[in-house]
Amino acid sequence: MSGPVKVDFAPLAAPKGANFVVFVGADLKIPERVAELAPAAPGLLAGAAKTARFAGKALTALDILSPAELDSPRLLVVGVGEAKEAKETDFAKLGGLVMGKLGGAKEAVVAFAAPEGEWSAAAAADFLLGLRLRAYRFDKYKTKKKDDEENGESAGKVTIGVADVAAARRAARDREAVAEGVELARTLVNEPPNVLFPEEFAKRAAALEKLGVEVEALDEKAMAKLGMGALLGVGQGSNKESRLVVMRWQGAKSAKAKPIAFVGKGVCFDTGGISIKPAAGMEDMKGDMAGAACVVGLMHALARRKARVNAIGAIGLVENMPGGDAIRPGDILKSMSGQTIEVINTDAEGRLVLADALWYVQDKYKPAFMIDLATLTGAILVALGHERAGLFANNDELADRLVEAGKATGEKIWRMPLDPAYDKLIDSKFADVKNTGGRNAGSITAAQFLQRFVNNTPWAHLDIAGTGMGSPQNEINRSWASGWGVRLLDRLVADHYET
Ligand code: BES
Ligand code: MN
Ligand code: ZN
Repeated sequence: MSGPVKVDFAPLAAPKGANFVVFVGADLKIPERVAELAPAAPGLLAGAAKTARFAGKALTALDILSPAELDSPRLLVVGVGEAKEAKETDFAKLGGLVMGKLGGAKEAVVAFAAPEGEWSAAAAADFLLGLRLRAYRFDKYKTKKKDDEENGESAGKVTIGVADVAAARRAARDREAVAEGVELARTLVNEPPNVLFPEEFAKRAAALEKLGVEVEALDEKAMAKLGMGALLGVGQGSNKESRLVVMRWQGAKSAKAKPIAFVGKGVCFDTGGISIKPAAGMEDMKGDMAGAACVVGLMHALARRKARVNAIGAIGLVENMPGGDAIRPGDILKSMSGQTIEVINTDAEGRLVLADALWYVQDKYKPAFMIDLATLTGAILVALGHERAGLFANNDELADRLVEAGKATGEKIWRMPLDPAYDKLIDSKFADVKNTGGRNAGSITAAQFLQRFVNNTPWAHLDIAGTGMGSPQNEINRSWASGWGVRLLDRLVADHYET
């Protein structure tokens, strides 16, 4: 079977015909309570470890197939190295590694017992998160499925044996909410641009209503009335209508508590417009809405786990196309803030969309802070590659908390500078500001541009052009779209903003 894997917790038990997964440290000693369930296991491991040069190092595995005297088609021995030092991210990675090794196995029983001491319920929950995220597939458009490990099937059913089932289930509830949020974000980014255009994207966001999220979509008429000339300018070359969708989750004790806000760039396809992009790799620009996808995934996670916070998610949805009505280099647009913008390059469209979305959110909701996510510049790829997102912030506390959440989740970020000295690069001859600042400091001038539309609200900008799509495949992600940012921001909220 393909598709989402079924995972549940149960008391530690013998494999009874299922694939069996056990953990060992560098001493290669199978925990006693596991050896009692599978008395043949220590001997099997001792026999195979030397030949396979398996030393129990963290995130390595020894796969013993058709083990004699064990009621199981496979004994998968997973190394955890120095178990005492294993942190949160390691358990998610461990889950991902195990799911990868299980491949298309129908059924697996995991003996989630530490080689030393006890693993916590939170560790079990992270392990489950890793299993789930590794099992994610986006193959709905393949009419013939391959059955190799990476493109084909994922395990059907995994039972995680733990000491305290109730505690593990409780801890896992929140992680499952996050897993769903990441999966949703990945799917939105992976969807082709002929399917996921602005109105369809808005519909998928509206599906959050069944979780208790209020969803409102502004159409072009409503946005014109508000004066959103920058966002509408980007969409005007496309036959598809633009949308601004606002999602509201009211989870705080007081409905009046100041909300926190997340704003996403949702360019459903970025051709570059009249300043058209080269053909090579242009198909990747279906992912130019990864910021918006993250915001939807995050709102899903927050609502699903009933986070005790009031949160706004706003996404600017447009398609950037060349056409008879498209904006031209030289055009001057009037933004909702009143500031005029000279378009130098129609491919610098994300900042135009965010200019109106950010202004609208601070104006209407007066949030405690705003965090925007955007696949904004190729320059951030030059600076940081696919490993880290660029962070820009006008508030040190918010920036520091984001960096910490990045370390905790493994969704790493690196703070870049904001500095008025860069403003001269985006001064315009004819308008208040121009939309590009030339080749140098491209990610910084983009952030300086955005800052003009946040009106002193505490704000952070995450440039996710490198991390949102095409990022390196790792233990917990085999998908082109990583769903980057959902885990990071959920963690930020959980650690600092719940009442
Ligand atoms: N969506 C792109 C940025 C991008 C590039 C995202 C590569 C993901 C991968 C953005 O709209 C864009 O085209 N930016 C231009 C800005 C330039 C014209 C100032 C860029 O980075 O080249
Ligand atoms: Mn562009
Ligand atoms: Zn773009």
